[in-house]
Order: sequence, then C-alpha cells, then structure tokens
Amino acid sequence: MSERRSFAAVVLAAGQGTRMKSDLPKVLHPVAGRPMVAWPVQAALDAGAERVVVVLGYGRERVEAELAARFGDRVTAAVQEEQRGTGHAVRCAMPALEGYDGDVVMLYGDVPLIEAEAVERLAAARGERPLALLTCTIDDPTGYGRIVREGGEVVGIVEHKDATEAQRAIDEINPGLYAAEAGFLREALDGLTADNAQGELYLTDIVGAAVSRGGAAAVPWPLASLLGVNDRAQLAEASRTMRRRVAVRHAKDGVTVRDLERVDIDADVVIGRDAIIEPGVTLRGRTTIGERARVDVGCVLTDVEVAADATLLPYTVATDSTIGERASTGPFSHLRPGSRMAERSKIGNFVEMKKTELGPGSKASHLAYLGDGIIEADVNIGAGTIFCNYDGFGKNTTILEEGCFIGSDSQLVAPVRVGKGAYVGTGTTVTLDVPADALAVGRTRQSNKAGYAARLRARLKARKDAAKKAAAEAEGAPGDAKKD
Ligand code: UD1
Ligand code: MG
Repeated sequence: MSERRSFAAVVLAAGQGTRMKSDLPKVLHPVAGRPMVAWPVQAALDAGAERVVVVLGYGRERVEAELAARFGDRVTAAVQEEQRGTGHAVRCAMPALEGYDGDVVMLYGDVPLIEAEAVERLAAARGERPLALLTCTIDDPTGYGRIVREGGEVVGIVEHKDATEAQRAIDEINPGLYAAEAGFLREALDGLTADNAQGELYLTDIVGAAVSRGGAAAVPWPLASLLGVNDRAQLAEASRTMRRRVAVRHAKDGVTVRDLERVDIDADVVIGRDAIIEPGVTLRGRTTIGERARVDVGCVLTDVEVAADATLLPYTVATDSTIGERASTGPFSHLRPGSRMAERSKIGNFVEMKKTELGPGSKASHLAYLGDGIIEADVNIGAGTIFCNYDGFGKNTTILEEGCFIGSDSQLVAPVRVGKGAYVGTGTTVTLDVPADALAVGRTRQSNKAGYAARLRARLKARKDAAKKAAAEAEGAPGDAKKD
C-alpha cells in the first residue's frame, strides 16, 4: 500500500432532509449529543484532514454557527444555493480549496457512524490512480447507486433510477465516499452534465472520468458504519449504535458500565477510572464524572461536574451543577442550575436545590427546598426545611453560617441570615436574622389539657352512636315509603 498523501475533506450537507419532517436542518439533529454533521467532520479531522470544507444550503446560518463553535477555523463553510446534485455540491466546495494540490476526500454530512479508520483507508487507497472509493455489498441494494465492473475493474456507477434491470441486480453499491487527486477532481467536475433521470450533476460520474486515467481503486467496507440518516427512525438506529460505541469506549477505559445497552452517554462526557455507571443512567452535554464516583440507577445529569468518590444514589436529577468529592445525593434528589455541593456534603430523599452552595460536610437529608442559599460548612438542615426565597417579585438569599443547626419543618424567609453555631428550633418560621450561637424559636407555646382527649372521644362516640340509631329507625319503621 502506498504512502498516504495529505488531504482535505469535503462534507456534503446542503440537503434539507425533508423526510425528517423537522424545522431543524437534518444535519443538526443530535447523535449522542453532537450534531450529526459533527461526526463526519470529526472523523475527517481524526484521520488527518488538513482542512474540512462543509457544503451548506438549507438552514446554513445555524449549521455554520454550530460548526464554528465546535471546530473554529479548522472547518470552512461553502454554500450551495440550489441543490443541483452531489456533483454540483462538490463544485461549490472547490473555490474554498483553490490552489490546494493534495487529495480531496468526499463524505456526507448525514452519515454519522463513519469512523476515522474508514477515511484513513480511503485516503490511503488511491495510490497511482486518480480516484478511490468505498463500496459495500448488501442484500437489498434498492435506491443505491450500483458499482459497475468490467474484468473486475470499477468502470462506473449507475444510479438506481438510471439503471437497467440487469444493473439493478448488482449487489455492490456506492455508499458515497471518495478520495480524488485534486487536479483530476477539478477537471472531472467541470465535465459533469445533468444528462440523467434526475437532471442533476452526479458526483458518481467522476468514476467514469477516472477510467481513462488509470481507473478507480475500490475498498470494500461494511455498510453498518456508512448508513445514511434520512428519517427519525434511522436517526434512532444510528443513535443506538453510537450510544453503544460510547459505552464500550468508557468500559475499555476502566469505567464499570454495568449494562452497555442501557446507558445513554453523550460523546463529550468524560468519566474517570473505576467510576461505576449503573443501568438507566443518562449523562448529557459536558458532564464529567470523577474517579471512583458511583452513579446509580436512573440518574440524569446534564452539564454536571461530579468529583472523585462522590455517590449519586438512584434517581438523582441534576443540571448545570457541581457535586464535590465524597459528596452524596439521592435517592430522588434534584439539583437545579447553579447548585454547588462541596466535598463531603449530602442531600437526600426529595431534596431540591437551586442556585445554592452547600458547604463542606453540610447535610440536608430529607424533604427540603434550598433555593438561593449560601450554606457554609458543617450545617445540619432538618427534614422539611424550606428556603422561602421568592417574594413574588425577586429572589432573596438565605445565609446559614458555619456549624448552625436548622430544626425540622422550619421556614427561612429570605433575605435572612443564621449566625455561626446558632440553633433554629423545630417548626420555626425565621424572619429575622439569628445571631451567632443564639437559639431562635418561633412557634406557639404548647399547653397540655389533662384528660381532655378521653372526654372528647366519649363525646364524639356518643354523637356517632345516636346518628346510627336514628338511621336504623328510619329504615326499619312500619308504614315506610316502600309499602305503597
Ligand atoms: C447518492 C449517490 C448514490 C449513492 C448514495 C448513497 C449520487 C449521484 N448518487 O445518492 O450513488 O448510492 O448517495 O447514499 O451522488 N447533497 C448536497 N447537495 C445536493 C445533493 C446532495 O449537499 O445538491 C448532499 C445531501 O445533503 C446528502 C448527500 O449529499 O448528505 C447525498 O445526497 P442524496 O440525495 O442522499 O444522494 P442520493 O441521491 O441518495
Ligand atoms: Mg437524491
């Protein structure tokens, strides 16, 4: 095999994707958390492409913005105003490659499962020929362009719509990926005509053009990673394959992924060694999981930073938050955006946090709402505590200083501050700041009435017995309504 030349990639992504039935351009639909088009672009870059030109049409501003955010100036956008075929699309990309004399690898933006290895092999396969292409052999070739060979050599591609009956029987198809010498490609593109069933400029016609220049090298490749996404069912299939790939990658990198089929981990998520990911976990966006952390069944984390040795018990739902070292959450905890749990802090069952800092070693183990709070170290928050942060107009802050203790079923009406080491008695509604080391109690004083319960019970029982007796008499009495 010859040494690989340097190459640029052209990714075709101008199509609207009508069959997606979507307002979102097809190539922006996410696959494992990345826009579909990012996958072939990444594969091209990973394979060593010097630059990547993406041909855009439908929704191009949005697609261009996504690409710029993700790849910066490694990717250039070219515009195809009107979709006049795959050959026309590549023509539209060529001005962006003016003067480039390496090879040009062509890919589709709606083929997310493509691996860098396929691009590398394709780029390496051209050798002395002007063109190389991947081919697949499949059971049902309907709809695909067929590879026409003579004496074993590829001599052309004929589109399904243009094919004869005999050609339609060919089961070797064109998945649509090519590597071409740039000079040859420019000439071949110039020579394309729309003389075919669809009245389009077919990129496939460059294969015929290569025949007189030494022909095309064909590399057989499994179709599985080259499948195009045209509708949402295919999107779901591709996503499933990608999801499994991501799970396998983490498993091979030392993460215990209990069930490879039942986790949904976005491609950009980072997970440390010896972390444990249980079934039914969804990790989205820029989430990172520290070493030895445990993410138990049913957790859903979006853009969350989980530090080493943290424990997330089942059904922790968290967004845009951080969970510190050896901290623990759940079961059934909810961290809304801006929640910051320091090391060794804990929230338990049915605790909701929002834009709140929970200091080192501080705990809220049961049933609480902690919104807009600053909670220092070693604070204990009893069951049923509510931060009353909203007054109908704005959000106010509750500050709990180090080591204070909030009794169960208390309300803290913000803005309010509980000083260092202070106690808040159970059932207190705190409306005034509590000085350090003070006890705040704000509930009615209890009084016991001796014997009252027994007397009350007797009175209630007598009333109930009387009512029963009256009902029985009314029903059993002679001369009642039923007789007439
Ligand atoms: C093309 C191939 C066919 C191959 C099939 C594999 C041609 C003529 N035919 O057919 O041999 O078997 O792919 O899927 O190339 N695109 C543009 N601008 C255009 C037209 C297409 O950017 O004007 C993009 C689309 O967005 C898509 C890709 O090119 O990502 C392929 O286009 P599509 O219409 O699906 O190609 P097919 O006609 O199916
Ligand atoms: Mg088409």
